[in-house]
Amino acid sequence: MGINLLKGKKGIIFGALDENSIAWKTALKVKEEGGEFTLTNAPIAMRLGTINQLAKTCNAEIIPADATSEADLTNLFTKSMEVLGGKLDFVLHSIGMSPNIRKGKEYGDMNYEWYLKTLDISALSFHKVLQTSEKLDAMNEWGSVVALSYIAAQRAYPDYTDMAQAKAMLESIARSYGQRYGSLKKVRVNTISQSPTKTTAGIGISGFDAFF
Ligand SMILES: NC(=O)c1ccc[n+]([C@@H]2O[C@H](COP(=O)([O-])OP(=O)(O)OC[C@H]3O[C@@H](n4cnc5c(N)ncnc54)[C@H](O)[C@@H]3O)[C@@H](O)[C@H]2O)c1
Repeated sequence: MGINLLKGKKGIIFGALDENSIAWKTALKVKEEGGEFTLTNAPIAMRLGTINQLAKTCNAEIIPADATSEADLTNLFTKSMEVLGGKLDFVLHSIGMSPNIRKGKEYGDMNYEWYLKTLDISALSFHKVLQTSEKLDAMNEWGSVVALSYIAAQRAYPDYTDMAQAKAMLESIARSYGQRYGSLKKVRVNTISQSPTKTTAGIGISGFDAFF
């Protein structure tokens, strides 16, 4: 049972693919606590996943956006403010993907086009989200923007390959943008380092099963 901790708070939740997704569980909790939000994911993920089901349960509108596209993000933030009737208080960036990991590539055999894709989707997208939000003046004062990281940002973990660099970059963006957004608009920017979890992204990392 919620205690209306988020009553009156509005936001955007990125990355709910299916019921195992961290973003899915977060959306249910935010709803339980009285928050209102739009849901978003990459158009292709919408076709593969079950986000419609979550949207129904949470009475939330879905606005598709590829998080690497500035045009999609501008549309997402603009529409979200329209749908929710005002500026936002929270944004959850729960996005990660490495084509190299998906294709089982070893760290000594990286495909560099895919490497750049990993960085674009899993890290640079966070900067794009923050910059779009700042340009549209989309966040209320004391709002909070959170992304999901992993300890391999700071320590060597053998099978995390190019995602380790993506998470290091993600955390660096959080520090740099947090400093900027905090002083300009009192908006907080943070990452949470998640432990291995059985999700589509999590089961793709070999060795994670030992932690489950
Ligand atoms: N599961 C774990 O063990 C674990 C551990 C540490 C950190 N994390 C992080 O948690 C976050 C959420 O992952 P998850 O475990 O819930 O897995 P998940 O696979 O359910 O979620 C990842 C999401 O990223 C989305 N995505 C991929 N490319 C996108 C794009 N171009 N635009 C928009 N969205 C896109 C996917 O559609 C999916 O919804 C990720 O940042 C992941 O790296 C997960």
